[in-house]
Amino acid sequence: MRPRGALAVVACFVSPSCVRPAARPLVARWPTPARRLTGVAAARAVASAPPPAVSMTETAQDLLRSRVVAALTTAFGPDAAANPMLTPATKAGFGDYQCNAALSLAKKEGKRPRDVAAAIIDALDVSDFCEAPTVAGPGFINLTLTPAYVSGRLNAMLADLSRLGVTKRTGSAAKKVVVDFSSPNIAKEMHVGHLRSTIIGDSLCRLLEFLGHDVVRLNHVGDWGTQFGMLIQLLREEVPDFVAGTGELGDVDLGDLVVFYKRAKARFDVDPAFKEAAQREVVALQGGDEVSRRAWQAICGQSRVEFQKLYDTLRVEVTERGESFYNPYLADVVADLERQGLAVEDQGATVVFLEGAQFTNREGDRQPVIVRKSDGGFNYATTDLAAMRYRVQEDGAQRILYVTDIGQSLHFQQVFQVARRAGFVPEKVSLEHVPFGLVQGEDGKKFKTRSGDVVKLKDLLDEAVVRSRSELEARLAADNRTESPEYVQDVVSKVGIAAVKYADLKTSRTSNYRFSFDKMVKLDGDTAPYMMYAFVRTQGIYREAGGGRALEDMEGKDVAFAYPVAAELALAKTLLRLPEVLAELERDLCPHVLCEYMKGVSTLFNRFYEQCPVRGADSEAVKESRLALCAITASVIRRCLDLLGIQTLDKI
Ligand code: ARG
Repeated sequence: MRPRGALAVVACFVSPSCVRPAARPLVARWPTPARRLTGVAAARAVASAPPPAVSMTETAQDLLRSRVVAALTTAFGPDAAANPMLTPATKAGFGDYQCNAALSLAKKEGKRPRDVAAAIIDALDVSDFCEAPTVAGPGFINLTLTPAYVSGRLNAMLADLSRLGVTKRTGSAAKKVVVDFSSPNIAKEMHVGHLRSTIIGDSLCRLLEFLGHDVVRLNHVGDWGTQFGMLIQLLREEVPDFVAGTGELGDVDLGDLVVFYKRAKARFDVDPAFKEAAQREVVALQGGDEVSRRAWQAICGQSRVEFQKLYDTLRVEVTERGESFYNPYLADVVADLERQGLAVEDQGATVVFLEGAQFTNREGDRQPVIVRKSDGGFNYATTDLAAMRYRVQEDGAQRILYVTDIGQSLHFQQVFQVARRAGFVPEKVSLEHVPFGLVQGEDGKKFKTRSGDVVKLKDLLDEAVVRSRSELEARLAADNRTESPEYVQDVVSKVGIAAVKYADLKTSRTSNYRFSFDKMVKLDGDTAPYMMYAFVRTQGIYREAGGGRALEDMEGKDVAFAYPVAAELALAKTLLRLPEVLAELERDLCPHVLCEYMKGVSTLFNRFYEQCPVRGADSEAVKESRLALCAITASVIRRCLDLLGIQTLDKI
């Protein structure tokens, strides 16, 4: 039962219709049954034991890993320790972490898995922060953190509520990371694929920046290529004043520029004279012809203004360094490849033949990647090779990420291979394509407007705001609540954008995802508004029970945490997994893991709040402990939202 008074707490911050713990069951990592600890366990849990002498900056998983490795080495030798097979527990009742090494080891050793597990446990010393390890099932070793250790880690989180126990990478662990994302093409409308790249890329940048890496956010804009020939040619015909150097581009804006592009393309396809002129224009532009360059700049400038509006709406920062930036290096890249004997002539073009089975057909022919076309022009691949070389040599990149749709996987495999073989990118620099799936309509088909056109990003974001406005207005009406127009505007603009971002990020990156406005703006469900509400509610409960204290008032306190109810220990243990989850994200670059974690935190918080009165706690000490849990929970949710690029609200 919800404690009395709880409704009132929440009602000051949210409308009563939202007062429900969780609209539907969400994923929780450790679903602990609602039971009270009894006897010794309860006594130990409540007693404020001094924190154990283990590191409070390392994660439990890292600590455990090194101990398990040591035990495996002692018991079965260093080979056995190569993979300690340590993971967070997969099931309730399996402790907090589990080590599955005994199963595979048993096969190798010709012993019974449970005996192997027992031998590992014999050699395993974790008594300073874990309960006695136990063996479960066929031979899993279950590891459970002690409440004293959990409290120590919670206090470390409390010490700085903005970092929450997440240490900044320093020394060689802090990397120079180039993130190549967003990257729309000039004079072509930015589409949903670019939106995904922008949202995912920004979230990854935020995470890496938070972890202390030196991140370069690069917008590899498609601002070069043969399409400019037709654009400039049409511009010459239609705005002669500009071309003559006396006029301005005037009111032609990007919307028009896209239409302009379509018109140019249509002419190009049917009018041979136009086509020839456009091709001459490409040569003129590449040759540095002054008028052509000015026209090119004007077109890029207009696109840039339009793109920037979207970046502002999304609150995404990105530095433009488009394809044209690498022009001066292209010839040298190809010359270098030729010098090394990697690039050869093939049917008039210059190509590099790729190595590896996936690039070899049954006849044994190797697939080529073209680096200079037969007309002498360079292409997308050449530009990427030059960009890689530049990023390593000039930017000093140690890790380079490319956030694009999965359709470009082959392209990246090819250019990565060539760059490695040419020595442009040494082995120690990691090259990672971070692919994502397609955005589909609600019907699972291609995402289009009703009239069958490509959905414009601006329209899409506007629509998200419109939908969240109707959602909010309906809720206000149902609750007989009135809010100022300014408040409504602020909330719906934040919620609308957040909804689009969250719907994208919560989906496993490589899957296709179905875009549904109706689902993403709902307050109940796996949505941004729900998570934003979870923050408002958690902070509200804390403020109310704490007599109006701000979250930061809790900062730096040394709290004697107590866990008289199992739900609070379960919440506590999930909270202190934040640094582990972020480390996983740093490696795998999958923002949906962060969404799942945040959902788990919110579910466990709801359970905690149902079972553990905060204001009406049995003692001042227990109340302080619970208040601190509220403060950490609110800060964890706020941090997760921030890493997803989502702003928090004070009320919703
Ligand atoms: N402009 C490209 C597109 O729209 C994406 C560029 C991705 N980055 C890169 N370095 N290739 O498909």
